[in-house]
Amino acid sequence: MAATRRYSCKTAAETLDWINAIADFLLRFRSLIDAHVVNFFKDRLWETIDNQWMECLRKESVENLLGIPSALEHWPSSLREFVATLRSLVLPREQNLSNAILENFHAVPLGSVLSQGMNSKKKHEVEILAAAVSTVARGVNAQKIIDVGSGQGYLSQVLSFEYQLSVVAIDSSLHHSSVTSARANRIKKHYAAKLPGDELLKVPQTVTCQVLSSESLAALSIRTVGKNGNIGYLVLAGLHACGDLSVNMLRAFVDCEQVKALINVGCCYNLVSEESSEKTSMISGFPLSNGAKLSGLTLGKNARDLACQSAERWKSLTKKAALQNFELHAFRATFQMMQEFIGPYWSLRASLGPLIETYILLDRLLFLQEHGNFAEVQLVPLFDPTLSPRNVAIVARKIDANIANT
Ligand SMILES: C[S@@+](CC[C@H](N)C(=O)[O-])C[C@H]1O[C@@H](n2cnc3c(N)ncnc32)[C@H](O)[C@@H]1O
Repeated sequence: MAATRRYSCKTAAETLDWINAIADFLLRFRSLIDAHVVNFFKDRLWETIDNQWMECLRKESVENLLGIPSALEHWPSSLREFVATLRSLVLPREQNLSNAILENFHAVPLGSVLSQGMNSKKKHEVEILAAAVSTVARGVNAQKIIDVGSGQGYLSQVLSFEYQLSVVAIDSSLHHSSVTSARANRIKKHYAAKLPGDELLKVPQTVTCQVLSSESLAALSIRTVGKNGNIGYLVLAGLHACGDLSVNMLRAFVDCEQVKALINVGCCYNLVSEESSEKTSMISGFPLSNGAKLSGLTLGKNARDLACQSAERWKSLTKKAALQNFELHAFRATFQMMQEFIGPYWSLRASLGPLIETYILLDRLLFLQEHGNFAEVQLVPLFDPTLSPRNVAIVARKIDANIANT
């Protein structure tokens, strides 16, 4: 397993192998993952770290601490091994668009009208994701795209006006739905002025609804394409669909025949429901796959919070910002103490965040793979991680959808 850096696994067995290797590794660092900053001094958390590691890291510069997981020659061999294993297990995050599942991908730069109101991060995400959704949707001959957790409708509007796709934007917030409609009408006016007839202009349909299960998402989606007796094909798309919303998308993809493809970028893992931590009768969002259920690793809230930590953002902190970050933690721990302990401790802990996210993403991948060879599934780092740290999309298309254009 070590030293193989890959973007996805072809088979469920390979994914399971990777999941188990991560579970074994993370279980060794349980206390570091579960640590709560307010208890740092009370519980003398630094003492839970290997003595040799702490002795070495206390003397390191902030820059070198932020560099973890990169190791230096003079570090103890066990610490270098920790770093090497971590690096070998974590999903690579460099943007990579040359994936067979995105064949013929071509992103159109967004003009000022469509990108109005977006910051550079959002513009980047929407530009790339819209092109990816369009590529996949055309490949399966989809009639409709369902933008799940559409927010202010940025993705929906680009898919409608730039890519001429028929889109339904679903969001739980009535305010977001109103903003989406108002914005779409403004954009439509602009496009209509440029076109001889506006009959080709598609405006996203908005639906205000809190999606609480995959069944309701599937039913809602089918209703949007089932009008006039036509049952067309659907694509589910989600840009930073928080918590269980992403999970419901995955389940709807598996269960609903009309849903032929899925592109999902998740976020807010802290909001995902977890089997062991919340005793509810509802189906939990983690773990999803049988493989992860059997791996023996539970996450819990602190670990899921840590999975939201961005390696790129962490690495790019300036020394000043890092010191402030460490001081903030020290302050919150209510003791004034040097960064000597908190810096190394927090840097080691932060380095585990991307690995926990890898585990969550692999659980989602394996969940789809465990349903047999019905779909082609890939994890694709779609966005530049320095701009958009939550950058990995799960892209899936049903195999029978290959007949789409025939
Ligand atoms: C992180 S925002 C992403 C918005 C948009 N996709 C974007 O990237 O600009 C998540 C959106 O999902 C919506 N949302 C969260 N949970 C939802 C649920 N259960 N059902 C429907 N919408 C939900 C929120 O209102 C919010 O607009």
